[in-house]
Amino acid sequence: MTAKLLYQLDTDATPSVFDSVVAYDGGADHVIGHANITAGMVGPLVEGAIYTRGPKEKQYTALFIGGSNINSAEAVLQAVRAKFFGKFSVSVMLDANGCNTTAAAAVALLGKSRPLAGATATVLAGTGPVGSRAAAMLALEGAHVTITGRSLDKTQAAAASITKRFGVEIKAVAAPDAESRHAAVQGAQFIVSAGAAGHELVGASAWQENAATLCVADLNPEPPHGLGGLGAADKAKDYQGKLAFGALGIGGLKLKLHRACIARLFTAHDQILDADAILAIAKDMA
Ligand SMILES: NC(=O)c1ccc[n+]([C@@H]2O[C@H](COP(=O)([O-])OP(=O)(O)OC[C@H]3O[C@@H](n4cnc5c(N)ncnc54)[C@H](OP(=O)(O)O)[C@@H]3O)[C@@H](O)[C@H]2O)c1
Repeated sequence: MTAKLLYQLDTDATPSVFDSVVAYDGGADHVIGHANITAGMVGPLVEGAIYTRGPKEKQYTALFIGGSNINSAEAVLQAVRAKFFGKFSVSVMLDANGCNTTAAAAVALLGKSRPLAGATATVLAGTGPVGSRAAAMLALEGAHVTITGRSLDKTQAAAASITKRFGVEIKAVAAPDAESRHAAVQGAQFIVSAGAAGHELVGASAWQENAATLCVADLNPEPPHGLGGLGAADKAKDYQGKLAFGALGIGGLKLKLHRACIARLFTAHDQILDADAILAIAKDMA
């Protein structure tokens, strides 16, 4: 039996422990971590992956791109793809900081609960890896998406980078405090809170007393959670007609999805599992 090898190409100073555990749980026999990866370094790593196994065994070598900076991870993915030609390729998954699997799990659960096409959605702290992917996926599903962040420049840059990568329009709103974030979610049918762990972004009234709101998701697993008044384990919990998903309620699907994507890498030598592909898998699993 040919060993399933997963090479972690992580842009951070140490390869993510979370990603390596899930890689083993997803079926890799060996996980080999490389840290501080930049786009300029991938040449020899990709050559080692694509030239070593014959056509029938190539599917058992795969690459995983991680790290906390989504733009660096995307640059690494582009550099990896540029090295592929003809049948000389291996499957690749990009999930920097869990951005794709976490956002896809949340968006798939929200979309299963209420229709996203044509709806209004606000992603609080949509400037980070997970929030920016959630915004992109909501827009790909047909929602009109606004992201917030504490500084206008950073938020506009994040929106522009989503538009450049996915061809969708995203509105950027500066919301530096709870009051401005409260205002930013008024009129939003879907609210996704994607702020750093352990920070409340808005209080309960922002969504519970918001006539427009249909569904909310909070990705922050550590108390205080991003949306006040919501439970981490909520999974389509009904708050007087508004359905809520907490970080743990989403985390179960996120982990299953992440493992399923790893398993899928080893089924062919030419798959690219980035936002679109991972969202499609999440929608099948939700
Ligand atoms: N449930 C799951 O399965 C799962 C999996 C992965 C990640 N997560 C969680 O998902 C969330 C987003 O992950 P991420 O990696 O994208 O997060 P991140 O990069 O650490 O932070 C996201 C954004 O939060 C904002 N922020 C940081 N500190 C803040 C503060 N003190 N007050 C208000 N806003 C602040 C920043 O936006 P601005 O600077 O633009 O304001 C930042 O871009 C995190 O809570 C993470 O723990 C959950």
